[in-house]
Amino acid sequence: MKTYFLTGGDGFIGFHVAKEILKDEDNKVVIYDAHKHYIPLEESSWFKYQQYRIKELKKYGERVVRMRGDVTDKELLKQSLRKYNPEIIIHLAALPIAKVCDDYPDEARINIFESTISILEAIRNLNLNLDKFIYTSSSMVYGDFLRDNENNIIPAKENQQCNPIGIYGAMKLAGEHLVKVYSKRFNLPYSIIRPSAVYGPTDCNRRVTEIFLTNALKGKELVLDNGGLHKLDFSYIKDVAKGFVLVANSKKALNETFNITFGEGRTIKELAETIKKLIPNTKIIEKTRDVYRPNRGTLDISKAKNLLGYKPEYNLEKGMEEYLDFVKNNNLS
Ligand SMILES: NC(=O)c1ccc[n+]([C@@H]2O[C@H](COP(=O)([O-])OP(=O)(O)OC[C@H]3O[C@@H](n4cnc5c(N)ncnc54)[C@H](O)[C@@H]3O)[C@@H](O)[C@H]2O)c1
Repeated sequence: MKTYFLTGGDGFIGFHVAKEILKDEDNKVVIYDAHKHYIPLEESSWFKYQQYRIKELKKYGERVVRMRGDVTDKELLKQSLRKYNPEIIIHLAALPIAKVCDDYPDEARINIFESTISILEAIRNLNLNLDKFIYTSSSMVYGDFLRDNENNIIPAKENQQCNPIGIYGAMKLAGEHLVKVYSKRFNLPYSIIRPSAVYGPTDCNRRVTEIFLTNALKGKELVLDNGGLHKLDFSYIKDVAKGFVLVANSKKALNETFNITFGEGRTIKELAETIKKLIPNTKIIEKTRDVYRPNRGTLDISKAKNLLGYKPEYNLEKGMEEYLDFVKNNNLS
């Protein structure tokens, strides 16, 4: 049996990565998660989605072990790692919302930067049989994407300079540097994954895809800030989860960094129009608002395609259709 240890494994991405890993019956997943949530409960679906995820993973019986613990709790983390001696660690636990990080920088420091040191130190001090440590970073490390002479946004490449413009991106980039230092000094085998705008079943951090879909289902307007021309590389969770497992199992991914997204920037307006096609009564309005976020777009995924055979299958239309089916079938909107 191969053991994967997932910090933050009860969250949105962690749940889907766990399911992808468990498709192979020789794999076991240990979930280590503090069950944190970031949106006031009255505005969030966190509680029902959390229950849903836990219930789904219980179907795998003894191949899933769940531990409630904080990554910054050094003793508990060490005990857990020693007990399960995983071959693969996927570090997903973090405060994952850029706006909340800007508002609560100390929480961002503790849950992104310190949690990363905590797990790196635990690995350094234990004699684990580790094949790979995977650090979950973000496209927010790039900051504003570069532009060509005609002012078009250039797809972001893993080896370009990173210039984050918010606390979340800065903390994630600091974590990347730590991982590389532990690799150089203490021989840590690692891979870094940079996802972006991940969406799909059970996301409940009130990202734009969830907000628009649930608003449309409730007959509420979809509001486009400043025309909705901002582009994101919307990435369906099933593609992203497959990308994580490819990175985890490929020798070619060792000590490398990968963009794992769909690989096409689409506007927020296109997202709203896609939802309107699925839910025709949807009303879309525009508002002028001051929004502070990096100008983003397509992430270049040719490295993951060429080295690992990564092949995302869900464009925005296909992904949103499946996401809507899930929400309707599970009566969870
Ligand atoms: N969702 C996206 O679009 C996206 C994009 C880029 C990167 N990421 C990164 O992917 C990872 C997972 O994000 P998500 O969307 O699944 O968020 P999520 O909030 O659904 O999951 C995060 C999980 O981490 C846990 N956690 C947080 N701090 C912890 C701590 N100190 N100790 C133990 N557990 C802790 C939470 O309880 C939660 O279950 C994060 O690192 C996030 O920054 C997400």
